[in-house]
Amino acid sequence: MSKAIGIVGIGSYVPDRIVTNYDLEKIMDTSNDWILERTGIERRRVADKDTASSDLGVKAAEAALADAGLSAEDIDLIITATLSPDMIFPSTACVIQEKIGAVNAAAFDLSAACTGFIYAITTAKAFIASGDAKKVLVIGTEAISKILNWEDRKTAVLFGDGAGAVVLAETEEGKGIITSVLGSDGTGNQLLYIPAGGTRMPASYETVDRKGHTIVMDGSEVFKFASRKMVEVSEEAVNKSGLTLQDIDCFLPHQANLRIIKNAAKRMGIPLEKVYINLHEYGNMSAASIPVALDEAVKNGHIKKGDIILMVGFGAGLTWGATVLEWNR
Ligand code: UT7
Repeated sequence: MSKAIGIVGIGSYVPDRIVTNYDLEKIMDTSNDWILERTGIERRRVADKDTASSDLGVKAAEAALADAGLSAEDIDLIITATLSPDMIFPSTACVIQEKIGAVNAAAFDLSAACTGFIYAITTAKAFIASGDAKKVLVIGTEAISKILNWEDRKTAVLFGDGAGAVVLAETEEGKGIITSVLGSDGTGNQLLYIPAGGTRMPASYETVDRKGHTIVMDGSEVFKFASRKMVEVSEEAVNKSGLTLQDIDCFLPHQANLRIIKNAAKRMGIPLEKVYINLHEYGNMSAASIPVALDEAVKNGHIKKGDIILMVGFGAGLTWGATVLEWNR
């Protein structure tokens, strides 16, 4: 029987600067009450002007390597999930590879927005299962503050910066990653996107004037999609694992909106004490949300050895994905 593939190291990093809802009240037409009531967010971290996604990713990656007891040379593949790369190309994964000195690693970015971490660990597991890689560093990192329109209250209040990383490898103990389910619906590709700066609408004075290089979202459509898909894909992944929702010790969803999370938990019959929530602290960190929450939950004792964890993500694309794993450390 093939060995289990699981997380053998984990780490995260968020920038020091805290921006509260009250700070945002001073620069745009919004209020702490609105943000708290509609999203559950109280504050978020914002990277300083010279910090890019790779800088945050490096700190998370180094913490994950230290936790795994590995050096960067031991890694043979780096997958970075991000919607806020340092630049269009080369990949942020290559920039991180250089900075941490992972000289033996192949490196690429994976574009699945807020589902990026789930897509990336699923990809990493497939690489290890096929024998094409042994130790894979997966990083979810975002400096979203750099690609927000700070005059658009519909998006600017929602997001935050941060990074989380894991090392995946074969493990002796436990089941590790039991199963994943991924999906996409490209008909929704313009519900959450950055219109300009790619080959469809190259950068011009006009695109800059119109703030075309910042995030645009149809919030209520994404809300409806997320509320539906979060439950569907979670149930599918749990069924595929041969488990039931009652077996889940920790439900760790993408941290976009407290109402979406609470509704999903309620519909699945998962009690709130089993749901890990930290979006009040960080807002939506896209591909970094799940690994930062996972790292926190492990460190603060919310997740213990042997626990069955259900992680679920959804976001631009549209994309969605869920992973069921046994925490084996
Ligand atoms: O991670 C990727 C996935 N993203 C998501 O999951 C986000 C999903 N969507 C959402 O979380 C919610 O749709 C939002 C939090 C973005 C918006 O909440 P909503 O309850 O859907 O509000 P709405 O967009 O329907 O807006 C309601 C009102 C509007 O005013 P009118 O037109 O009713 O007068 C908005 O202009 O709230 C207004 N509004 C605000 N007011 C104060 C929108 N943003 C703000 C704001 N402060 N920041």
